[in-house]
Amino acid sequence: MSTPEVHQYLNELGRGWTGQGVAMEVGCWLGATSAALLDGLVEAGYDKLYWAFDKWRSNEAEVQKAYDQKVLLGISQDLLPIFLKNTKSIYPKVHAVQGIIPPILNMFNLTPIEICLFDAPKSNPVFSDSIHKLLPYFIPGVTVLGLLDYYFYLRRKEDQLKKDWEKFLVPVQFIEEHRDNFTVLRDFKENSSCVFFRYEKPISWKK
Ligand SMILES: C[S@@+](CC[C@H](N)C(=O)[O-])C[C@H]1O[C@@H](n2cnc3c(N)ncnc32)[C@H](O)[C@@H]1O
Repeated sequence: MSTPEVHQYLNELGRGWTGQGVAMEVGCWLGATSAALLDGLVEAGYDKLYWAFDKWRSNEAEVQKAYDQKVLLGISQDLLPIFLKNTKSIYPKVHAVQGIIPPILNMFNLTPIEICLFDAPKSNPVFSDSIHKLLPYFIPGVTVLGLLDYYFYLRRKEDQLKKDWEKFLVPVQFIEEHRDNFTVLRDFKENSSCVFFRYEKPISWKK
């Protein structure tokens, strides 16, 4: 769950939009983080499509997570109408692409990206395929990459039953491997799992 501090930061990020590229979220669920970003983008005069990618199909864990927040969902419910209701009221040009990530990223219209939030790609091959698809559209010195569950692996590690925690280290390993290409803008380790980075310079991918 993202915290009020993260929502406030997303709002600030949106307000700082410079007009050089689109904003997007990969893994949006009901739209809380997208809505916080859109509030700020609207203040900044954002006029491009807001790209949103998700399968928007609830599973058992999501039904429970929503119930804990007093929202009633059914298993396998199509969540896209809820996402659209929560976001289009803020900004009408939300462009939602529903399906499995990363294949649905092929629907992106290949335009510069200024703000990119990742909250679905957390392990491979989804993380690596998603980054490879979108990174060519990042703007050096400008694009903000928000890894909203950067510290997900820590939660898995602390739960003794979750033996698979290491696979969720992928975003951390990616940033460590490319530490010259990204700088940390804000780290919310104290009260959530999010870290925001600025993409500084292009990556030369190892063969
Ligand atoms: C943690 S939730 C996003 C929460 C949202 N960013 C927020 O804070 O309000 C992750 C979302 O990613 C979606 N998701 C995870 N893996 C996916 C995949 N491979 N393809 C499509 N959607 C996926 C789930 O359906 C879920 O809606």
